[in-house]
Amino acid sequence: MQHDFDSLIIRGKSLIPIVQGGMGVGVSASKLSSAVARENGVGTIASVDLRHLHEDLLAESKINPTEEKYCKLNHIALDREIQKAKADTQGKGMIAVNVMKAVKDHQALVRQACESGADAIVMGAGLPLDLPEMTEGYHKDVALLPILSESRGINIVLKRWMKKGILPDAIVVEHPAHAAGHLGAATVDGVNDAKFEFKRVIEETFEVFKKLGLESEKIPLILAGGMANFEKITTALKEWGASAVQIGTAFAVTQEGDAHLNFKKTLAGAPTEQVVEFMSVAGLPARGIRTKFLDNYIKREAKLQSNAKADPRRCTQGINCLSVCGLRDGLEKVGQFCIDIQLAAAWRGEVDKGLFFRGKDPLPFGDAIKSVRETIDYLLHGYTMEQRKIG
Ligand SMILES: Cc1cc2nc3c(=O)[nH]c(=O)nc-3n(C[C@H](O)[C@H](O)[C@H](O)COP(=O)(O)O)c2cc1C
Ligand code: SF4
Repeated sequence: MQHDFDSLIIRGKSLIPIVQGGMGVGVSASKLSSAVARENGVGTIASVDLRHLHEDLLAESKINPTEEKYCKLNHIALDREIQKAKADTQGKGMIAVNVMKAVKDHQALVRQACESGADAIVMGAGLPLDLPEMTEGYHKDVALLPILSESRGINIVLKRWMKKGILPDAIVVEHPAHAAGHLGAATVDGVNDAKFEFKRVIEETFEVFKKLGLESEKIPLILAGGMANFEKITTALKEWGASAVQIGTAFAVTQEGDAHLNFKKTLAGAPTEQVVEFMSVAGLPARGIRTKFLDNYIKREAKLQSNAKADPRRCTQGINCLSVCGLRDGLEKVGQFCIDIQLAAAWRGEVDKGLFFRGKDPLPFGDAIKSVRETIDYLLHGYTMEQRKIG
């Protein structure tokens, strides 16, 4: 697709400046990521609990469930999704795998993604200081993209990686006041801190590059959170010096999105005032839609938190998906629900039971469900091919 922006260059590959963000559980798997890659973008598979997309693996995980078995089945599911996505890209774009640091099995998921042929690993939900070690032996073939939210974190990660002789292939800068899912701030109130403003983060990061002697490396900065808007993309890429944008919600609701239609309709139809922030069980603030589950939970949160108690039996599924879990570990300041159960229910389209992550900003086509191609067309041109024909 032709456009007026500079290409995003990763590992010498020239791509459209649109990255599809990783979305768990099951929201961005092979179908969505390969559709984005076919348009020469970066499509991202979210590695968290892909078991749900494979009936045989899900059935197997219900027989004598153990943490070890759960991890093994997830590795198989991740391998299948990567193989399928790679086969469907027609050699275009890139297939990245998103791994959240907060997930207990993150190291093994990174290794599996590398072994299965992912083009890139994107890591957030915690400082990815040791991503270079996790990907040892794969640095020649696999690009590394940390997700960070402010220049201080970028400085820390760069300094640590430089000691190992590794640089990020690009940095995703995610704005906690706009993005969906887990947010890179310490508290719910902290998401609006001025230190997260994109323009400021870009300017400060360019200073960090200068101080560390990295100016000539031209590490691309990719802005995530509320960027599914042509005017915003134009400002970010043409005026601020960003190299690309990462889009989540607007891709989750596309025809190719890997979740149930009810999931897409719930996201696309949510009024802004229903999109709220709360503390996730993973110890980070998060953003989602105040549907029935979240509304009930928020009303009962204080009571549940006062009853917080460290007890391994509170991990009802026994899969211990998170390194730190407010429910299992009795952390009274954070979430008190099983996030795996709630996100999987949302993916299945169970509107009353599920937890629906969503960004704060309006979507390009309102509540309409369109294709990946139409979405990218709008993002790159401000209008779609169809509108152009009519015009
Ligand atoms: C349903 C949903 C699930 C998400 N899950 C993840 C995830 O597993 N890992 C991650 O790093 N980001 C996750 N995100 C964040 C996106 O990758 C992306 O950075 C963010 O949504 C960008 O903001 P936008 O939705 O306003 O475009 C999720 C977003 C959504 C909408
Ligand atoms: S209670 Fe749920 S969210 Fe917490 S570790 Fe267990 S499976 Fe994961």
